Amino acid sequence: KKLSIVGLPMDLGQTRRGVDMGPSAIRYAGVVERLENLNLEIDDLGDIVVGRPKLIENPNSNLKNLELVAKMNTELAQKVDEIVKGGSFPLVLGGDHSIAIGTLAGISKHYKNLGVIWYDAHGDLNTEATSPSGNIHGMPLAVSLGLGHPDLTDILDYTPKVKPENVVIIGARSLDEGERELIKEKGIRVFTMHEIDRLGMTRVMEEAIDYLKGRTDGVHLSLDLDGLDPNDAPGVGTPVIGGISYRESHLAMEMLAESNMITSAEFVEVNPILDERNKTATVAVALMGSLFGEKLL
Ligand code: ARG
Ligand code: MN
Ligand code: MN
Ligand code: MN
Repeated sequence: KKLSIVGLPMDLGQTRRGVDMGPSAIRYAGVVERLENLNLEIDDLGDIVVGRPKLIENPNSNLKNLELVAKMNTELAQKVDEIVKGGSFPLVLGGDHSIAIGTLAGISKHYKNLGVIWYDAHGDLNTEATSPSGNIHGMPLAVSLGLGHPDLTDILDYTPKVKPENVVIIGARSLDEGERELIKEKGIRVFTMHEIDRLGMTRVMEEAIDYLKGRTDGVHLSLDLDGLDPNDAPGVGTPVIGGISYRESHLAMEMLAESNMITSAEFVEVNPILDERNKTATVAVALMGSLFGEKLL
């Protein structure tokens, strides 16, 4: 299997600087070596160049850094599109979660019914009307459903990228009012921490895999490291206590590996400035190992 890694070192989708160093931190944690050990052919395409953007306040908009976020996501979408066209598995490194807008734009045109697993403490289902923060990293799933500013929803000239019935959210424990309404209105499948506690991760993943298997022709994993508990993944900008453990996350990745259904993935929100000795990037790389079939015996 061929796998292409691309990083988008961008922190403009939120206001805590440093998550632009995520791709670097993940590379230093040994992602390439780890995956090469699994007999995968790795093509590390490096990072998309973001430069040193001037942050401009726009008092008339509830979308921070819209122009730059849209521009960088367009570049990412084009890159990811090329990777899929070349027959390779795209593995995208963030960057804040707004980069999922570009990843999904590049991937979804190659599928009729792309499934999405959103592994996250948050729903990222805000629009500029409902967002309490104006941070675009709280909006990428809504944007991919076709809801939000056209500069974001229409990247690569098509919308929506995903259908609500093809989305599964895992690990949610912080949802804004507008996000809850949208989940109900669209009937989005959500496994909150309550279901993980109650059913256990095994059952949750069995149900999620079962649900997506029948209706999708490819599944993208969008893994926000803040889906994990901050004790296990402290280097994130919006930590929420009471999260998914390191062990449960490994189990989830191993079950996804066995399911053979994942066709693209991204790991986002690693912020080395907020981290403890690169712990969070190291966890990300360990989870990638499991996702791509690493086994002890
Ligand atoms: N719901 C909050 C907001 O819209 C937090 C979003 C956090 N998203 C993330 N990808 N970490 O601002
Ligand atoms: Mn999150
Ligand atoms: Mn997120
Ligand atoms: Mn493992």
